[in-house]
Amino acid sequence: MRSYLFVPGDSERKLEKSLSSGADCLLIDLEDSVSLSQKPAARQLTRDFIEAERKKQSADTPKLVVRVNPLGSDMTDDDLAAIVGARPDGVLLPKSESGAHVQQLSAMIAVHEAEAGIAEGETEIHALVTETAKGALNAGTYEGASNRLKSLSWGGEDLSADIGVESNRTDDGRYTDLFRYARTLTLLGAATAGVEAVDTVYVDFRNADGLEQECREAVRDGFSGKMAIHPSQVDIINRVFTPSDAAIGKAKRIVKLFDEAGDDVGVLSLDGQMIDRPHLRQALKILERAKSAGLG
Ligand code: COA
Ligand code: MG
Repeated sequence: MRSYLFVPGDSERKLEKSLSSGADCLLIDLEDSVSLSQKPAARQLTRDFIEAERKKQSADTPKLVVRVNPLGSDMTDDDLAAIVGARPDGVLLPKSESGAHVQQLSAMIAVHEAEAGIAEGETEIHALVTETAKGALNAGTYEGASNRLKSLSWGGEDLSADIGVESNRTDDGRYTDLFRYARTLTLLGAATAGVEAVDTVYVDFRNADGLEQECREAVRDGFSGKMAIHPSQVDIINRVFTPSDAAIGKAKRIVKLFDEAGDDVGVLSLDGQMIDRPHLRQALKILERAKSAGLG
């Protein structure tokens, strides 16, 4: 998936608007964008929204993932009790501090799946892994945590608060070393766990050029998608994260070359460049991304 749009779970208007945003996935938020007093109303609204979408059974419905409150907040289980029975595609765990947190969440979800008569494991998990210093340092612990786990992403705002930085960007707008490190740990952790790496939000939501540049850097570095906070960011993210025709064409040629060469071949040449097994894996990833973007 390319675009993941955050939508406050207590806003009926934004929930409605989000459906026509073109996002591949909605991250319906019960955490930071919802005040404490609004949590019960947000849970109910989120549940009703997902149930209504499930009844429509429309092929256009984006994936529906709910961001619950973090473990240790004493709110996670109430969130899950409200929403799992409505059959969201997944749950996003904020402030995850290790693979053990994902295991714990998975067990909690299983109880609510059983209560609702849903097959165990149907609800996916996505995790935000660098929102605390401890979480960032444990980004490499997600391998084998749960078959539910589909992606890791990172966050700069909460990490700023946890560490007490003055700013997470330099004067020319680049992330400082600390945040580049957290971003890199996410890429390494996701590859280790065999799941997607999703880039964090770009908060300056009126700045389309800045967003586009950050998307390009994310594609270059191996992220498969990016989170958004405003519908106007979705088209840019979808466009940049959709592999180009040229990239798809080249990937197809590489796969064909290896197909024709048979299993015993390690290295080949294409257009005067050496091509070996890592290139094949890269090509297959591009084709997978193209397929999930609806291209052949
Ligand atoms: N999802 C769905 N619809 C959204 C939206 C979102 N994330 N953000 C804005 N919209 C809607 C607005 O409701 C508005 O629609 P309307 O005119 O029909 O009411 C339209 O898009 C334009 O919005 P705009 O006026 O440009 O922005 P805003 O000032 O209303 O909202 C934010 C700005 C940042 C508060 C809003 O984008 C938002 O709530 N983002 C998500 C925040 C979030 O979930 N954060 C947690 C993760 S970091
Ligand atoms: Mg947060």
